[in-house]
Amino acid sequence: MNKKAFITGITGQDGSYLTEFLISKGYEVHGIMRRSSAFNTERIDHLMDNEEIMNKKLFMYYGDLADGTNLSRLLEKIKPDEIYNLGAQSHVRVSFDIPVYTGDITGMGTTRLLEAVRETQIKTKFYQASSSELYGLAQEVPQKETTPFYPRSPYGAAKLYAYWMAVNYRESYNMFACNGILFNHESPRRGGTFVTKKITRALANIAAKKQDKLFLGNLDAKRDWGYAKDYVEAMWMMLQQDKPDDYVIATGETHSVKEFLQEAFSYVGLDWNKYVEIDPRYFRPAEVDLLIGDATKAKEKLGWVPKTNFKELVKIMVDADLKEAGVNK
Ligand code: NAP
Ligand code: GDD
Repeated sequence: MNKKAFITGITGQDGSYLTEFLISKGYEVHGIMRRSSAFNTERIDHLMDNEEIMNKKLFMYYGDLADGTNLSRLLEKIKPDEIYNLGAQSHVRVSFDIPVYTGDITGMGTTRLLEAVRETQIKTKFYQASSSELYGLAQEVPQKETTPFYPRSPYGAAKLYAYWMAVNYRESYNMFACNGILFNHESPRRGGTFVTKKITRALANIAAKKQDKLFLGNLDAKRDWGYAKDYVEAMWMMLQQDKPDDYVIATGETHSVKEFLQEAFSYVGLDWNKYVEIDPRYFRPAEVDLLIGDATKAKEKLGWVPKTNFKELVKIMVDADLKEAGVNK
């Protein structure tokens, strides 16, 4: 019998890659999407429009992490072998504007899902999308599983609560629950308001002469940027182990936003200084200055290593946006 996976956040960047990956492994994938007044399935439309896949390998339901009753009903019906909780209000800057909503969905939503598992008593494995934002004001460089947490945003604080709830259900109810502490990971499917995609999309529009300015915030922040496609594989690997545990997933390389700009613009022969302007609206009330992860545990226990480096990631993203903008490089 094929294994069944249940995914929250299936319409997001990671949800779309994870769905493709699990289907390629022979899984039946069940996902929830939010009711929206506009289409929100763009990243999985190629799967939903495929007759060989839709309602054979992929099953979609309306659902929301705000609605625990519906989550229980769905889990009771589907009885998934694996649950991937990727759903979240995932934007750090936005979390300062809507901290209560972020707490409710990103934090409490995880508890609703864990409670749905407990109530229905289904035997399943649980993946929690934890984040390097837990480290916030980094207490150690590089950050690993034992580094103390110090979240710096309502998003980080909500993810911290969710992290500990997953650990708590593992210890209290013997649930197979894992936290993947994933550092930033990007792709052509990255949401347009995250800095990497904002840069590569604007660059393509500049090259297409459709745009002449790019407004950004703090260019000095440093991130450990990896490729989302590599990272979803690590999520699955965690749930294939004999014992549940928590793992850092990162490349071990860090770059500033400025370095991302330099790499992307020079790839198409442009000077970013001519196009970028600073807009204080994009500054955050508290910033996370430096993230760099040590994924040694994942390498040793899961056999996971990143396949795509910074330079390759930038190239993948710029090429995709140039194509989208109709520019031949
Ligand atoms: P994303 O592209 O922003 O996707 C978020 C997903 O959550 C979307 O499918 C979204 O649905 C869904 N969602 C939002 N509110 C919801 C709600 N109330 N109920 C149910 N679903 C809801 O995020 P991502 O980059 O794929 O990241 C996946 C997960 O990993 C998130 O939990 C994120 O916080 C976490 N994470 C991401 C990174 C990273 O660098 N990408 C690093 C560490 C951790 P709509 O499409 O309808 O908006
Ligand atoms: N979004 C954005 N927009 N960020 C900007 C901008 C801008 O115009 N200008 C500078 N930045 C800086 C931010 O201040 C931050 O330091 C850095 O670019 C990265 O910002 P984001 O791309 O928004 O990502 P993030 O690091 O805050 O959060 C992402 O990664 C986390 C993992 O560390 C999100 O995907 C989170 O959901 C994830 O948990």
